[in-house]
Amino acid sequence: MQAQLTALVNEAESAAPSVATRPDFDAFKARLVGPNGGLTAAMKAMGSVPKEDKPAMGKLLNATKVRLEEVLAATLARVEDAEIAAKLGPAIDVTLPVTDDAEGLTHPLTQTRERIVGVFRKLGFTVADGPEIESEWTCFDALGTPPDHPARDMQDTLYMPKSFRSPDSPRRADEELCLRTHTSSVQIRTMLAAVATQARTGALPPVRIVAPGRCFRRDTVDATHSANFHQIEGLWVGENVTLRDLKSVLDAFVKEMFGSKAQIRFRPSYFPFTEPSFEMDIKVPDMGRLSDRWLEIMGCGLVDPKVFANVGIDADKYTGLAFGLGVERIAMLQHGIDDIRHFYANDLRFLRQFA
Ligand code: PHE
Repeated sequence: MQAQLTALVNEAESAAPSVATRPDFDAFKARLVGPNGGLTAAMKAMGSVPKEDKPAMGKLLNATKVRLEEVLAATLARVEDAEIAAKLGPAIDVTLPVTDDAEGLTHPLTQTRERIVGVFRKLGFTVADGPEIESEWTCFDALGTPPDHPARDMQDTLYMPKSFRSPDSPRRADEELCLRTHTSSVQIRTMLAAVATQARTGALPPVRIVAPGRCFRRDTVDATHSANFHQIEGLWVGENVTLRDLKSVLDAFVKEMFGSKAQIRFRPSYFPFTEPSFEMDIKVPDMGRLSDRWLEIMGCGLVDPKVFANVGIDADKYTGLAFGLGVERIAMLQHGIDDIRHFYANDLRFLRQFA
């Protein structure tokens, strides 16, 4: 009988893992402890066990019963778990992060723009904005660019139907509208707004802005030209703004942007709205193959008094500085990018490098 009980436990333990469903389990249980099962048969056999062996056999019988109940309980728990899992479908933990790598990232030009604007914010500049469809007066006349200037030629500038007139256009109803060729138009809008405030309050508010934005030119696209590009304009107007401020602001900007070893150099230049005007170059010791070479990065100068006259600012009392830089150019220098068209091709192999 001892052998019979041991065989019963062994059978239960070895058969348990293959019990998969509720009917399997019912049959399994009946086979072990049901009225016609192994345990019942053993209990019946107790009658023929000699008296002196009965206590030991009774104990063994009990232990067998306990062990069989354990096996049955564990098997039932497993079968029930499987039933619940089958009802719920495959296990999904909705709190886990997705496993594909489709996470978004900002465009390299956005990253560069944000860095540049961040540096100027530290230097006390706020961010201004203006429309991409601009009046010819704001884009050209007010900035000292006369009607016969080649920049205004139909071949150079993209004109818009007049129905695109922006409601806040500050001048003539019949003037031409163009896609702005530079962000310098935001200088004009910012100064007009300041003059309007002055008319209300009696004082010209502080003007110290940067204006990032998209510009358009009738350029033939090549490695360094795009008909559609981005600039950041700077303007600071005050009672004693000088060339020294221009140099110190731009030197601080370049050192923040390119490292403390970066140097700047001003070369005389010409813009219709600044006097004097300069091109600013930088030289950076550790910029790959561009290291230690003078590289032109922006135009700048002091605001021409005739621009102040055009917007109604008192040129005897106020002076100003202005600068304008190309976002693409800075991004290309910083990352060693050799073709401007990479920025617009939407090729993920290029864009993912800026994650
Ligand atoms: N608007 C000029 C350009 O597009 C840049 C510039 C801005 C120069 C401000 C001087 C001052 O080339």
